[in-house]
Amino acid sequence: MGSRRLFLLLAFNALMLLEAYRFTDKTDRQALLEFKSQVSEDKRVFLSSWNQSFPLCSWEGVTCGRKHKRVTSLDLRGLQLGGVISPSIGNLSFLTYLDLSNNSFGGTIPQEVGNLFRLEYLDMGINYLGGGIPASLSNCSRLLDLDLFSNPLGRGVPSELGSLTNLVSLNFRENNLKGKLPTSLGNLTSLIRASFGGNNMEGEIPDDVARLSQMMILELSFNQFSGVFPPAIYNMSSLENLYMAFNHFSGRLRPDFGILLPNLQELNMGGNFFTGSIPTTLSNISTLQKVGLNDNNLTGSIPTFEKVPNLQWLLLRSNSLGSYSFGDLDFISSLTNCTQLEKLGLGGNRLGGDFPISITNLSVELTDLLLENNHISGRIPQEIGNLLGLQTLGLRENMLSGPLPTSLGNLLGLGVLDLSSNKLSGVIPSTIGNLTRLQKLRLSNNIFEGTIPPSLGNCSELLHLEIGYNKLNGTIPKEIMQLSHLLTLSMPSNSISGTLPNDVGRLQNLVRLSISDNKLSGELSQTLGNCLSMEEIYLQGNSFDGIIPNIKGLVGVKRVDMSNNHFSGSIPGYFENFSKLEYLNLSINNFEGSVPTKGKFQNSTVVLVYGNKNLCGGIKELKLKPCIAQEPPMGTKHPSLLKKVAIGVSESFNQLSSAGVRGTIGYAAPEYGMGGQPSIHGDVYSFGVLVLEMFTGKRPTNELFEGSFTLHSYTKSALPERVLDIADKSILHNGLRVGFPVVECLKVIFDVGLRCCEESPTNRLATSEAAKELISIRERFFKTRRTARR
Ligand SMILES: *[C@@H]1O[C@H](CO)[C@@H](O)[C@H](O)[C@H]1NC(C)=O
Ligand SMILES: *[C@@H]1O[C@H](CO)[C@@H](O)[C@H](O)[C@H]1NC(C)=O
Ligand SMILES: *[C@@H]1O[C@H](CO)[C@@H](O)[C@H](O)[C@H]1NC(C)=O
Ligand SMILES: *[C@@H]1O[C@H](CO)[C@@H](O)[C@H](O)[C@H]1NC(C)=O
Ligand SMILES: *[C@@H]1O[C@H](CO)[C@@H](O)[C@H](O)[C@H]1NC(C)=O
Ligand SMILES: *[C@@H]1O[C@H](CO)[C@@H](O)[C@H](O)[C@H]1NC(C)=O
Ligand SMILES: *[C@@H]1O[C@H](CO)[C@@H](O)[C@H](O)[C@H]1NC(C)=O
Ligand SMILES: *[C@@H]1O[C@H](CO)[C@@H](O)[C@H](O)[C@H]1NC(C)=O
Ligand SMILES: *[C@@H]1O[C@H](CO)[C@@H](O)[C@H](O)[C@H]1NC(C)=O
Ligand SMILES: *[C@@H]1O[C@H](CO)[C@@H](O)[C@H](O)[C@H]1NC(C)=O
Ligand SMILES: *[C@@H]1O[C@H](CO)[C@@H](O)[C@H](O)[C@H]1NC(C)=O
Ligand SMILES: *[C@@H]1O[C@H](CO)[C@@H](O)[C@H](O)[C@H]1NC(C)=O
Repeated sequence: MGSRRLFLLLAFNALMLLEAYRFTDKTDRQALLEFKSQVSEDKRVFLSSWNQSFPLCSWEGVTCGRKHKRVTSLDLRGLQLGGVISPSIGNLSFLTYLDLSNNSFGGTIPQEVGNLFRLEYLDMGINYLGGGIPASLSNCSRLLDLDLFSNPLGRGVPSELGSLTNLVSLNFRENNLKGKLPTSLGNLTSLIRASFGGNNMEGEIPDDVARLSQMMILELSFNQFSGVFPPAIYNMSSLENLYMAFNHFSGRLRPDFGILLPNLQELNMGGNFFTGSIPTTLSNISTLQKVGLNDNNLTGSIPTFEKVPNLQWLLLRSNSLGSYSFGDLDFISSLTNCTQLEKLGLGGNRLGGDFPISITNLSVELTDLLLENNHISGRIPQEIGNLLGLQTLGLRENMLSGPLPTSLGNLLGLGVLDLSSNKLSGVIPSTIGNLTRLQKLRLSNNIFEGTIPPSLGNCSELLHLEIGYNKLNGTIPKEIMQLSHLLTLSMPSNSISGTLPNDVGRLQNLVRLSISDNKLSGELSQTLGNCLSMEEIYLQGNSFDGIIPNIKGLVGVKRVDMSNNHFSGSIPGYFENFSKLEYLNLSINNFEGSVPTKGKFQNSTVVLVYGNKNLCGGIKELKLKPCIAQEPPMGTKHPSLLKKVAIGVSESFNQLSSAGVRGTIGYAAPEYGMGGQPSIHGDVYSFGVLVLEMFTGKRPTNELFEGSFTLHSYTKSALPERVLDIADKSILHNGLRVGFPVVECLKVIFDVGLRCCEESPTNRLATSEAAKELISIRERFFKTRRTARR
């Protein structure tokens, strides 16, 4: 080359560089500043280096070419940028790498991105981009990797994308895409990975994709694709991972399935409508690691897996495999060489025969053994304790019999033990208390006998304890009340006796308490009112007595059944305020007084109260006697209440002046406990307590009252509607019929009592006022009665 030509070449290159520099300043800088201006203002701070006084090629996320200093790469992933993507991005014509993923961009993908003809890598995943995939992307013909994962893009896959013949990886997962896969995708012969999972695509997979012979990972899961197993996929002999779960595929699998796809490692075809048998050639795929054929309509026997040493998951749940007979589980012995087996799910099939002892030789890596809902008989072998890695053991709904092996106590990692609905018998071994990771223990519906092991109190992570429908006896161990995470405590239909332990209130997360149909008795603990998460309480069919404890705070309660017991007292009015109540059954007890009428008490399908002799009122549909009865016949008895009122007032004063009462627990004003001196305010407090006691018939020291639940709050909660419920029944039963004057007088009397024992001494009524009020009640009472008589 002559020196002149060399010089010209150098000069030309220098000019080119100069031009490129000028372009940098003009085009790229301008385009990026425009891009920045479309980023939502509050997030622009992440792009603060994008300013005129800082060199472009040092801007956050920007990389330039070494010679020409044009922007070649823009990596803004995970910067929490919002706003829209400016079309000016299409002016960065030297861009090969564009990553805007994991931000909060809205709007659409600007079609100007199609101008970036040098682009090799494009990632806009995890944003809020809509408006479909722009067809113009088909002009980025050098693209190797296109990732739009997790956007609400919508619309279909443009057939123009068939021109991206260099594409190696395509991710359109979770984009709300509709329509069919375009046949032009058969042109993308370089594809190694493609994901269309989690969209709304439909139709058959086009035969054209048979040309994608490089394909290693294909994901079609969670769509509405249909048709038989796509014949084209049988041509993809390089496939390692095939995911097509939860679609509408149907038909039989080819017998040579495993010969055609010999490199499969993960195969998930669960949740379709495949029929016929599992191809035995599946076990020719020696590379298999995870197999999911669950939730299909497969029939026949399960093939063996001797030559599949790396098998980790075998999930065949919810098919029609097996023939209800011996031999159905023989294949299990072929799994004993699968030393990495973690999950074996065979539930919901037709598998028969005895529980195979070979199960106990499976890998110690096995975490999930699920055989529920089959026809498996025989005993659970003692050797089950060899499976030291087990976390979930599900044998529900089989025909297993015999006792529970004590070796279950060796499985220290067990989180779920579900053996319900079998014919298991004997005692629940106390070694179960060794399972300190246990979260679900389900033993319902067997024939277990003996007592509930107190060692269960050690299973401190327990959430669900279900042991109903057995023959358990003895008492509810108090240790159960230590299980503070418990959500479900369910032990109905046994022969459990004794009381509900007093500290049931420690179960603060309890949602469901079911102890119905046992031999339980005694009063319910007040602490039940502390179980604030409660939604369902089933106590029916026992011999509980006493009143309903104060459960006013359990406002989330939906279903309460207390029927068939010996409960007494009144129906608490606060049930009216339980807005979620769907069912309240208080039938067949000894409840008395008036039935509330508001809230859910207006609906006779929600509240059941039949079989309580002394209930009155309520809505018409309950057909109870009215609470306001006739005047008694002239001259039969009467007016003892009046005497009572009269005598009561004076007696009270006498007792008070004798000063015997005012220092006594329950009668003493609160300030006495805090070192206050006896005073006239204290006296009026004690007087108020006496009035409340006299007319409720309950001493302030009654065991009913605990903590903030006092005679005072008890009375207050009943006013004004439910005075009859709390009034001493002997006043009312003493020949005096319930009617207007009595109810009105009681209201005033209770009101006076309450105002006398206000917490703050200065808020209390003066003694003289209290006396005046009571005397005026007495006079009004006599007067009304006389008027009524005439
Ligand atoms: C992008 O390029 C076009 C054409 O060269 C030009 O008209 C436009 O102003 C540019 N936009 C920005 C923001 O740089
Ligand atoms: C420009 O960016 C640089 C680098 O982040 C920063 O130090 C400088 O303060 C910025 N200048 C302006 C005017 O924002
Ligand atoms: C997304 O970005 C955030 C930071 O903004 C980061 O914490 C998170 O791990 C990223 N997620 C993914 C999937 O990359
Ligand atoms: C691709 O680019 C060419 C030339 O710029 C243009 O005519 C065509 O419309 C583009 N294709 C799409 C689908 O945008
Ligand atoms: C792609 O495939 C379609 C149909 O399979 C075909 O008509 C077209 O010519 C192919 N080539 C390109 C570049 O799209
Ligand atoms: C797919 O495989 C079948 C044989 O199973 C063959 O006949 C067909 O030509 C293959 N198709 C392609 C596109 O390779
Ligand atoms: C598939 O496995 C079976 C059983 O091991 C064997 O008999 C058969 O020859 C294998 N087929 C192929 C094609 O390898
Ligand atoms: C597949 O199984 C489901 C549920 O067992 C059943 O309803 C359905 O009829 C079956 N379909 C076929 C095609 O066998
Ligand atoms: C397990 O592997 C050993 C040796 O690799 C072999 O001898 C034995 O037959 C295999 N067992 C089963 C059940 O396939
Ligand atoms: C298992 O439980 C039994 C009975 O409760 C107990 O005697 C034994 O010490 C426990 N073993 C371990 C390892 O905790
Ligand atoms: C409890 O059941 C066991 C086993 O059925 C029985 O031996 C025992 O007598 C029962 N205890 C009581 C108190 O009923
Ligand atoms: C009564 O309750 C039932 C059961 O919750 C419900 O289906 C019905 O609609 C309710 N009736 C009225 C009148 O609210």
